[in-house]
Amino acid sequence: MVATIKTIAFQGVDVRPVDVQVQISSGLPAFTIVGLPDKAVAESKERVRAALHALGLSLPPKRLTVNLAPADVNKEGSHYDLPIALGLLAAMEVVSKEEVRDYVVLGELSLDAAIRPVTGVLPAAIHAASNDNSLICPAACGGEASWAGTDFPVLAPAHLLQLINHIKGTQVLARPEGRVEGDLTPANMAARDLVHVKGQESAKRALEVTAAGGHNMLMSGPPGSGKSMLASCLPSILPPLTPREALEVSMIHSLSGTLPEGGLMQTRPYRDPHHSASLPALIGGGHKVKPGEASLAHRGVLFLDELPEFNRSTLEALRQPLETGQALVARANRHVTYPARFQLVAAMNPCRCGYLGTAERECTKAPKCGLDYQAKLSGPLLDRIDIQVDVPAVQVTDLNKESGESSAQVAARVAKARELQTARYNALGAGKDMTLNAHADGEVLEQAMPLSASAKALLDKAATHMNLSARGYFRLIRVARTIADLAGMEGEIGENHVAEALSYRRIGF
Ligand SMILES: Nc1ncnc2c1ncn2[C@@H]1O[C@H](COP(=O)(O)OP(=O)(O)OP(=O)(O)O)[C@@H](O)[C@H]1O
Ligand SMILES: [Mg+2]
Ligand SMILES: [Zn+2]
Repeated sequence: MVATIKTIAFQGVDVRPVDVQVQISSGLPAFTIVGLPDKAVAESKERVRAALHALGLSLPPKRLTVNLAPADVNKEGSHYDLPIALGLLAAMEVVSKEEVRDYVVLGELSLDAAIRPVTGVLPAAIHAASNDNSLICPAACGGEASWAGTDFPVLAPAHLLQLINHIKGTQVLARPEGRVEGDLTPANMAARDLVHVKGQESAKRALEVTAAGGHNMLMSGPPGSGKSMLASCLPSILPPLTPREALEVSMIHSLSGTLPEGGLMQTRPYRDPHHSASLPALIGGGHKVKPGEASLAHRGVLFLDELPEFNRSTLEALRQPLETGQALVARANRHVTYPARFQLVAAMNPCRCGYLGTAERECTKAPKCGLDYQAKLSGPLLDRIDIQVDVPAVQVTDLNKESGESSAQVAARVAKARELQTARYNALGAGKDMTLNAHADGEVLEQAMPLSASAKALLDKAATHMNLSARGYFRLIRVARTIADLAGMEGEIGENHVAEALSYRRIGF
């Protein structure tokens, strides 16, 4: 007597189909789960047994074997409870095998047979929809699942009994409604309007260039000059997520369980982990190989405030996602990658006491105070930050000035510049991951970024003078391209664009 229920295993955001095969055979009473299960899956046994008991069903005093196939895929997480329970119910002929054959099933059971929420329902639903299957998931995740398609069949029971009754036809479960809760995502709450930032015109301009080209940015300045404030304004000038991006971002947040209930991520993520964050928290990993902050910030902003205070090895681990847009999480016997295409925005004080180089209150231990502090950042990391600006203390006269532009005004220019870029990279046939200047590479970069003769001369002179690395050289060109795009100049990059790009590259450290 073998019953088979479909479920899934996760490898990063990729979904692998898994069959739960349940066999009841004669022999000494035993209940075993085989097929590379981790600890949480092995504990399934006890939860399933208790849940069935709560429904008044006891397991038959026979040999029960649950096989999770294929055996070479790691099975992690608690979402196997429900498919195992359903497989047992089918093998015990409580429900018919045919009725449950076309469902992909995931859910955790509590001891009283309630179905508890699990992570990763959105990717599971998209996988099921693309294979013409239906989905059974916990009630709390029903809204998330319904995003896989308007006519995609989803059953979202809150209790195992509801599910049995539905399959038997004695109760009908309604299709869950997807809700848009974009307004409640952290991005919108964190986003402040640029209109409140007084003065700091050059920092604001740098922020605009950063937003337009998808670049990374580092701000350095004394306490209270508005660095954290400026960073929190970045989401307000970035364009909204495209539907494809929204789905991509939501898949990652579904896996980490940070999706707003029933909603899709509608706004660009803005993540600002504390500087005590560990490497697994930032890059991903830990017991359940969860995506880290770098991946949760995918298609959005990763803000690292007080950059030198972060653990050095944690920062170094960011080098790889910054370069490739992917976070690689290595485990003992395999590794998993999560998308991590984020914009890094970092802020720091120029020295430990915070006042190095300020006119009002000089650092007493200069220059050692500053050198020691700045040495906490490695060259390779700084080399990946295209735009580096000083944010000096605000002048009192600036504080009394009229307010400047609002975020909406800046956002309009950013959107225009991004449209130019998308059109350009589409025309060049670059891949879907290359739609912004910051990510242009190789041949595409050469074709997209012609320099005028005088611009080239200036760039080469500066490169020799500043001892730029090859990476630094191309980053400068990318920033100059963005500046030209903001000015609506589609053709050659001019000398003035290169000159502005050079001003965003501090030579000090
Ligand atoms: N340019 C500005 N315009 C208006 N208000 C400002 C400006 N700069 C700072 N402020 C005010 O000062 C507060 C502190 O600024 P913020 O936290 O951004 O400083 P910071 O540069 O990050 O300092 P620290 O180095 O100590 O982290 C802000 O919340 C804001 O109220
Ligand atoms: Mg700050
Ligand atoms: Zn100092």
